Amino acid sequence: EKTLGIGLAGFGTVGTGVWETLERNLELILKRTGVEVEIKRIAVRDPKKARLKDVPTEAFTTDWLEVVNDPDVDIVVELIGGTTTAFDIVASALSAGKPVVTGNKALLAERGKELFSLSLEKDTPIHFEAAVAGGIPIIKTVQDSFVGNQIESMAGIINGTSNYILQRMTEAGLGYEEALGEAQQLGYAEADPTLDVNGWDAAHKAILLATLAYGFIIDPTKVYVRGIERVRSTDIEFAKRLGFVVKLLCVVREHEDGTIELRTQPSFIPGSHVLASVNGVFNAVAVIGDAAGESLFYGRGAGKDPTASSVVADIVEAARSVGEMKPGSHRGFLPYKDEGKIMDI
Ligand code: HSE
Repeated sequence: EKTLGIGLAGFGTVGTGVWETLERNLELILKRTGVEVEIKRIAVRDPKKARLKDVPTEAFTTDWLEVVNDPDVDIVVELIGGTTTAFDIVASALSAGKPVVTGNKALLAERGKELFSLSLEKDTPIHFEAAVAGGIPIIKTVQDSFVGNQIESMAGIINGTSNYILQRMTEAGLGYEEALGEAQQLGYAEADPTLDVNGWDAAHKAILLATLAYGFIIDPTKVYVRGIERVRSTDIEFAKRLGFVVKLLCVVREHEDGTIELRTQPSFIPGSHVLASVNGVFNAVAVIGDAAGESLFYGRGAGKDPTASSVVADIVEAARSVGEMKPGSHRGFLPYKDEGKIMDI
């Protein structure tokens, strides 16, 4: 059995979580799957920053190209975020025929057209379970478990930071800024939390879910997005008096004429509805398929360990596919429509 080499780009919250999870559960993974992986190289911006004590210093480099091109690296894991350098890393890895694992929803929602085409062209998959809803296996659900369904709708709460902020404002009476500071401390927010609070982090995730469900690349400029920045304590108080809670809700729905409705917005949810009790960092997505009916997926939507759980699952999946890929057999996304219509809202 060959040990497969992993190259990490980025070693922040999620990266260290991946290292720790692999340390803890490597033996178990090997017993379960026969897959043995080892993190060989890690690209970081600042090599002097405090790292985990047990990571050999020679693993680190500031040059991500070294990681991608290292002959000992078979799978590239992109965890730096953003849509520029991250794009170059993913594109270079795919060009070199190395499967990619990424948690970067902004990258795939904004530049998926180029990257998924390259993935197809190179017959090299991009795995992105960690990009949507942290530890909840929602990508696998939509892509695999619901493959026999026409997906009627997907709706839910898919930004942990916004959900945490709204809850703290509701229950602890915290101000918006203070609640955001806590979410950052807890490692839920993106490096740039603007995307969390302006709705775009959730919208990127909804775009990815819709892309998988409906088979075409979605133009992000066509979707309706409002974040929680303008939600005030008075809105929350008002909702409460009427028996509602305020949540940042994403809705993806196919209409009868084939138009796809895609919206992200703060919404009043009846206190008795199941989504009303999704609090803190938790996410929940309700998926309705024509065969399965409604299923609800609930779990931790952000943070170090839950997100690492999804990255590690993708690493194992990528490792299983190395050397035995056939066109169409991998879990990389395969667009099957050139275009679709997004509802004007
Ligand atoms: N910043 C994201 C969130 C992380 O708060 O949900 C998980 O994608």
